[in-house]
Amino acid sequence: MNELIKKAEETHNLSKEELVTLLKDDSLNQEIFHAANRVRHKYVGDEVHLRGLIEFSNICKQNCLYCGLRRDNDQITRYRLEIDKAIDFAEKANSYGYKTLVLQSGEDSFYTVDKMKHLIGKIKSLDLALTLSIGEKAREEYEEYRKAGADRYLLRIETTDKKLYEQLNPGMSFDNRVKCLKEIKELGYELGTGCMVGLPGQSIEFLADDILFFKEIGADMIGIGPFIPNHNTPLKDTESGAFEMSLKVMALTRLLLPDINIPATTAMETLNLKGRLIALQSGANVAMPNVTEGEYRKYYELYQGKICVNDTPAHCRSCITGQINSIGRTVSEEYGFRKKSCSYDYNSGGCC
Ligand code: 5AD
Ligand code: SF4
Ligand code: FES
Repeated sequence: MNELIKKAEETHNLSKEELVTLLKDDSLNQEIFHAANRVRHKYVGDEVHLRGLIEFSNICKQNCLYCGLRRDNDQITRYRLEIDKAIDFAEKANSYGYKTLVLQSGEDSFYTVDKMKHLIGKIKSLDLALTLSIGEKAREEYEEYRKAGADRYLLRIETTDKKLYEQLNPGMSFDNRVKCLKEIKELGYELGTGCMVGLPGQSIEFLADDILFFKEIGADMIGIGPFIPNHNTPLKDTESGAFEMSLKVMALTRLLLPDINIPATTAMETLNLKGRLIALQSGANVAMPNVTEGEYRKYYELYQGKICVNDTPAHCRSCITGQINSIGRTVSEEYGFRKKSCSYDYNSGGCC
């Protein structure tokens, strides 16, 4: 076995240079995927946690160059769900057996703190774990939602290269993004972050830095997916096709952070018909089926070709269960919080 892969599997530590060496050598891909699959099996087992995703508003005040929800895109139908409708979707998702819901939206100021707290309270009364994915907020707002019962928060760093980040996210500050992540962590949320792979101007070195950043920030969940050019954005003419490299960044993340939760992302399946299954066999242990009802999911167009846009929550639930079972894995009946491994110490105190 390659010495660096062996080291990663045994010690869960690699330097930036070592990561770059592995990322550059395509002949090692299969070996890395297999090692990540073993580490996933050893630390988080064979169960797959399902998170039901409710996309409750596609209105966004930001203007990220890669994203179809950016405010300057006038080619999509915008929607925002009334709180009662979002609650209705959550109740339906609960009836399909989900243990965790993810509330995701653009950065939409229509949802005041009071509205969000009401929604969070209703979902928590269903006895579900709840993840928020609603962007950058003031610390006080994160605090209010945490007190209202939100358990987890997803905010991808997107790329850890400050210059590239600020080019791709005009008007946004890299330092503020990192500040938000630290505050989320301090407030006791399970912290989710992640990146896109294949962004224009992104180098292999940046990807190595991304993986090391995930470790440094103490992330509990990491979502990694290929960048897919959206034809209604300024990046429409950029190259796509970073499936294998995304898989590799994900697998190396599993090797370095063995006990975290890692989703098989929708973007992976968009580029490869079996993308989520391949990801689940290369380090991932989570899937996030869409539970948004009706035509809304079609309008939540981050990029074209997003999977499941014409399917129903009921169909997706049975589809994903069938897929998971087909590779000898099972759907978890638990909330799927991170079970920190006692033999492994991340930043400071470990878990005991
Ligand atoms: N390709 C792939 N992923 C994208 N996202 C946004 N636009 C794209 C795109 N064109 C991802 C970002 C964001 C998440 C919700 O979707 O990483 O954090
Ligand atoms: Fe808005 Fe998020 Fe899209 Fe940026 S990536 S435009 S913040 S929805
Ligand atoms: Fe939606 Fe398969 S998960 S159709």
